[in-house]
This record gives sequence, C-alpha cells and structure tokens, in this order.
Amino acid sequence: MKLEILIQSLQHWHKESRIQHEWKSNSPYQAWVVETILQQTKVAQGGPYINRFLQRFPDVSSLARAAVDEVLQVWEGLGYYRRAHLMHQAAKVVEKKGQWPQTKEEWLNLPGIGPYSAGALASFVNNENCPAIDGNVIRVFSRWYDLATDPYRAEGKRHLNSLVENHLTYCHANQYNQIIMDFGSNICKPKSPLCNACVAQVYCKSYKERTIENRPIKKIKRPKAHRYFILYWHVNESRQLGMVKREAKDIWQGLWTLPYQEIEMARWKSVQEEINALTHRQTLSHQYINTVVLQKKTPTCLSIDIHHIDLADAILLPMDRSTRQYIDHLAKDYALRGRA
Ligand code: ADE
Repeated sequence: MKLEILIQSLQHWHKESRIQHEWKSNSPYQAWVVETILQQTKVAQGGPYINRFLQRFPDVSSLARAAVDEVLQVWEGLGYYRRAHLMHQAAKVVEKKGQWPQTKEEWLNLPGIGPYSAGALASFVNNENCPAIDGNVIRVFSRWYDLATDPYRAEGKRHLNSLVENHLTYCHANQYNQIIMDFGSNICKPKSPLCNACVAQVYCKSYKERTIENRPIKKIKRPKAHRYFILYWHVNESRQLGMVKREAKDIWQGLWTLPYQEIEMARWKSVQEEINALTHRQTLSHQYINTVVLQKKTPTCLSIDIHHIDLADAILLPMDRSTRQYIDHLAKDYALRGRA
C-alpha cells in the first residue's frame, strides 16, 4: 500500500467514525487546557475535568488572577499536581505578555509545555504543519514500520520524527495529528488492537510479521520505591483539625495534608498494628506512597508548622488522595459521634 493511499484511508476512516470532540476549539486558551488535561487522562475520564476547569476559569485572565489553591482544588483527583502549578505560571506569563504563542518554538517556552503539547497546539491553533508525537503516535508508527529501536532515545526519536514528517507532506498536521490520536486510542490500542477493523492493516509491517504485541518495544522500567508515612488526625476542643501545607519540592507540593512523619519500613510494620489504624497506598509514577493514619495529636518533637482549621473549612482544602480518603472517612465518623 502506498503512503498516499494509507493517508486517504485514514481520512476516510476518521470521517466515518464520527468521533466527537465537543471540547475542540480554535481558542488557544481552551486548546491549551484540553491538551494539558488530556495528557494525563483518557478522553472519557478527562471530559468532566475539562468542563469543570473551563467553567471555573473561563479565560486566561481568570486563571492568572486565581490563587494557586483554587487551581489545585479544581485539579484535585487528576494527579500530577505539578502540572496545575505550571499551568498557573503559564497563565501569568501569557497574561503579562498579552499574547499567546504563535509557533511551536514559542509554545515550548511556556512553563509545562513539552514537544508533544507544543506540536499539538501549534498545529491545532496556529495551523503549523508540525508533528505532535505522543504515546499514541509512538505505538502506531512502531507497529506500521515494525520499529525495533527505542523511541525514547535520540536515534529512535529522530527516525520516528522523520517518518511522521513524511506523512505530513500528504496531510496537514492540523487534521493529521487529530486523526492519528483518535486512531491510536480507538483502533491501534495498546492492548487488544482492532486489527481486523483497521484500514491500515495492509500497510502494517508488524501485523505481517506478527510482532504487534512487541511494538512499541518495552521501556525498561525502574522499580518503584516505597515510602512510608504516618499521618495524624486530631480535632481540638474548638472542632479544629490540625493540617499542614506541603511546600517542599517533593510529592504533593502546594497541597494540604494531615500532619505527617516519614518513617522507615521497619517502623512501618509495627505502626500498622496500632488500634484503629487505617492504611492507604497510592501509586505514583515513580513511587508507592504508603500511609497510615493515627488518631492522636502530632508528637511535638516533629516540629512542623500545623495550622488549626475549622473542620468544615478543612474539608474543602485541596489535598492529596490519601488525606482526602482519611478525612472523608474520619470527618463522617466524627460527625456521627458528635450527634450521638
Ligand atoms: N489526547 C490529547 N490530546 C488529544 C486530542 N486533541 N484528541 C484526542 N486525544 C487527545
């Protein structure tokens, strides 16, 4: 199959598929919000967040003027909180400059924008004919061309880039990048791709070679580290909960949490056995965060900056997922006991 025919088949498939993009927009602000949120979640799960974000911050000025806590609150549950901080910073940059980026290079200068997002935004918003290479494109091209080089290393990246650029001589990136993202997430899926319904089957080298399962080649994964934290739940006589704001350049920067102490694994085993201890494990990209909550005052020797916040207000703060779970559970318990 010639490349020209492949591209025509993909265009035809996309038109017939009627995949909806109700959030798609030429507005740089909306396109940027959409791309940033969809970078870390699938369209189905990201949709409600996109709507919520745009409702709360309808334009770049409202986002730039907001307190970072408000941004984190709308973001809560999406993970990768650093991205919310970077979005807030980027909004301030755009607001100050009074202008959105006009090219891929200019998009790359905004905080939080990497090569993929810059390519997607320059092609969608500025009509630049440039690649936007994300996990979908890597998977699709690794299969079409049966690529055995690591697409995350320089040589593999260069090769992939030149293949995509060749495709863009037949179809403008404004249309092509959207087609390929949709093709990757609906047909050429990571697990159980729909090869029998695929218009590119004849073109696909890995289909012929039966290497679909092994493409793209697997990234060598670093084993995730485990970290262990004790959290302390304590409500004082004035119905105020002790809380801490995480400022350090570590997990959950800018989020509120119950006062905490990081401990070694050996101690973790014994703490877990304390009465009424609830535990929670959260999986982040490079580490597992194991937490246990103890219903007692934070030991004074920890010398951390505890804020005493009315329980009703504390519940509304932006917080990490473990703290959210504990607070929802324990606040309900506390209210029930209060009524008894
Ligand atoms: N993922 C990231 N951006 C996307 C887009 N514009 N369409 C579909 N999936 C996406």
